[in-house]
Amino acid sequence: MSLTPLNELTSGLKRNGLVRFFEHYEKLHPDTHFKDLTVQAMDDDRGMWIGGKRLVNFGSDSFLGLDRHPRVLAALKRGVDAWGAHNGTSRAFSSVEANVVAEAKLAQWLRVEDTLIYPSVTLTNLGAIPALVGRQDIVLCDQLGHQSLQEGMRLAQAAGVRTGLFPHADPDRLREALDDAGEYRQALVCVDGIYSMSGTVPPLAELDKICRERRAVLYVDDAHAMGVHGEGGRGTALEHLSDLSNCLIVGSLSKAFSCFGGFITCSSALKKYLKMRSTSFVFGGPVPPPYLEAVCEVCDILMSPEYATLAENLHANIARLVRGLAGSGISCLGGKTPIVTMVIGDEEDALRAGKDLYDLGYYVQSVTFPAVEYHKAVLRIQVNSNHRIQDIDGLVRAVAEVVGKSQQKRRAA
Ligand SMILES: Cc1ncc(COP(=O)(O)O)c(C=O)c1O
Repeated sequence: MSLTPLNELTSGLKRNGLVRFFEHYEKLHPDTHFKDLTVQAMDDDRGMWIGGKRLVNFGSDSFLGLDRHPRVLAALKRGVDAWGAHNGTSRAFSSVEANVVAEAKLAQWLRVEDTLIYPSVTLTNLGAIPALVGRQDIVLCDQLGHQSLQEGMRLAQAAGVRTGLFPHADPDRLREALDDAGEYRQALVCVDGIYSMSGTVPPLAELDKICRERRAVLYVDDAHAMGVHGEGGRGTALEHLSDLSNCLIVGSLSKAFSCFGGFITCSSALKKYLKMRSTSFVFGGPVPPPYLEAVCEVCDILMSPEYATLAENLHANIARLVRGLAGSGISCLGGKTPIVTMVIGDEEDALRAGKDLYDLGYYVQSVTFPAVEYHKAVLRIQVNSNHRIQDIDGLVRAVAEVVGKSQQKRRAA
């Protein structure tokens, strides 16, 4: 290989700490390194085919099973017929009508004034957070807040905004951090609605109260909650805050919605400014129009009587799993949301447990550093409304066999 600067740059990455961490585990346990699987096919019962083997997929955020829903699929096809694959322009120039309708329908569903759609939740956070603040303001983020919240905060920091992290889900420490910040014009406080690695919900009412007392706006990334949590699936903020007038809510259109994109709630006035100031909105392309037609259809489903059945199936599946795990002596985090997490601790143990479950026919994600703290590796189960009862029960038996041993070892240590 010739020694070009690009080759040097590539081989230099071998010395990067994260690369060395992953390569170490890859070398030690090539068969347990499950970060790069290729799925060959999927079926209606959450079956997933990998290397010719059928597994039950417990790693999907399509919590309501809408990725297979005939009405959603028909809307996508209608969208392709109407708009083609993509309209190929930034929304700074124009938006297809389906985008405008989708934003209005999301606002109607959430009972808020307006919404603004971005191509993903990541791009919402990278666009909106720096757009909302200026040099006299501060941004504080929960220390376990999603990576994209923290990246959005870093972009604001690069533009001269003071930023910081506060201890996870701790209202008293947030109050202290705001008090210690000295003079500021406004603060933006960023948290997850449901923490993606633990399935837990922060004390939103207390955080909101502190924000109001200290000229801060609460910014809730509710990516995992939209469509599944709270009344009508409208998310954690709507469930825990009686008044949303000091809160911005970010939702996902890719998880329970099974479409594509992210969005933020806003007033019409704020929407205008976000459209001018969010670089990811101005300098990037939009959600492909067929998906916007599908978002409209999903909103209609969420506002129809059918939603109750989808939500009932999901919550019955979550309850069945949590009950089964508890009955087998397995402790887990969360339990009220579709993300059910078991703390394993050691990275190798978590990767091994994921592989053992895989061999038994269940795909569950092993999550290690840096997505969680070092030596706090977890197994994360994502429950869906279209998981079959026999598969939930089968997973409980498999987890009892695989994880039971590992948790016992931890308790004894
Ligand atoms: C809280 C949170 N925010 C943002 C994201 C990223 O969403 P997207 O894939 O739409 O960028 C995720 C994805 O899991 C998430 O859990």
